[in-house]
Amino acid sequence: MQRRDGSIFDAVTQRRGSDSAKWTRYAGGGDVIPAWVADMDFASPPAVLEALHARVDHGVFGYAAPPPELVAIMLERFERSYGWSIDPSWIVTQPGVVPGLYLACQCAGEPGDDVITPVPAYHHFLSAPGHAGRNLVTSPGRRDGVRWDLDLDRLADTVTDRTRALLLCNPYNPVGRVLARDELETLAALCIERDLMICSDEIHCDLLLDRDKPHVPIASLGPEVAARSITLFSPSKSFNLPGIGGFSIAIIPDPGLRRRYSERSHGVSVHPGALAYHAALVACRDCGDWLEALVAYLAANRDWLEEQVDALPGVSMCHVEGTYLAWLDFGRSGLSRPFDTLLANGLALTDGADLGDPSHLRLNFGCPRATLEEIVARLRKSLP
Ligand SMILES: Cc1ncc(COP(=O)(O)O)c(C=O)c1O
Repeated sequence: MQRRDGSIFDAVTQRRGSDSAKWTRYAGGGDVIPAWVADMDFASPPAVLEALHARVDHGVFGYAAPPPELVAIMLERFERSYGWSIDPSWIVTQPGVVPGLYLACQCAGEPGDDVITPVPAYHHFLSAPGHAGRNLVTSPGRRDGVRWDLDLDRLADTVTDRTRALLLCNPYNPVGRVLARDELETLAALCIERDLMICSDEIHCDLLLDRDKPHVPIASLGPEVAARSITLFSPSKSFNLPGIGGFSIAIIPDPGLRRRYSERSHGVSVHPGALAYHAALVACRDCGDWLEALVAYLAANRDWLEEQVDALPGVSMCHVEGTYLAWLDFGRSGLSRPFDTLLANGLALTDGADLGDPSHLRLNFGCPRATLEEIVARLRKSLP
């Protein structure tokens, strides 16, 4: 695979000893490289950094109002990218996507009802229903070679009369699929037939590594789907901004559902801060070229990683269509506790047990190639 010499993404920034959650968690264990939580080891776009400096220089940090053009710019991006026309009144502004998952579950039927999600799943999908007093119902997907598929028949069979909502992640953390239009149409038809709300977490929607696989917001499929949907989005994954303080939007076309959601967030889900607003505005308005270069870098990292994993004994990975997360199968590696063995070899991945499948680990390749090379070296060293 071609190495892009001189890419800004090749620069290694020392995060050890910084306030990074990713680099701090396992720091007590000596020389550990973390490739677990979904943030990238890249600096944010230069234009964002400049805007943040200017905002800090202003010096006054009273309560912040959203920049008037921010939502308009985001909605214009959605219209351009997906042909999805969104009324600004549908938007609820929030400090993060995760609060949206928990609020959505509180809007799903009544306590004691069921919320269904495909597994494996981002860990908050597994805890949000229970936190809202709903029952978590999971529906395992299946692997066909290097492709991970939702098992749509099984999912439909799992829906009961108590099921009120589907939690969906697209692009799909942790398996890296960008769900295709026909899969989404099947899911949407099921949700309409069984009267399910859809909460679709689309935070990874800019990170599309295969040019022929576009992102389709499920709510954009038609008004009947939109009317039962909550779509969650934030620019924080695309531009590596989660540590700035969250900014996200929930897109909720139905006024009744929006009211229920907003009522539950009142006084609990606080407003984003000034730095988060500024970073989001500049990122969405001015950093399209940076994002394109990032996606190309991630795609090259993905290609290289797939080649390397292919040569490892007993480990395999699904092809990553979107996100910077690889879902690695250790089922035939001979390791009984792969997470622990890798950690003992100086590598911290996300334990699949936390995501619904203990035979897998999730590897974050959103890092400079040099770091990824060290990650793979430690992975190789960990195997029997
Ligand atoms: C699917 C998904 N949703 C939400 C989040 C976090 O969102 P936020 O930081 O906006 O709460 C992540 C971060 O890993 C994620 O992968």
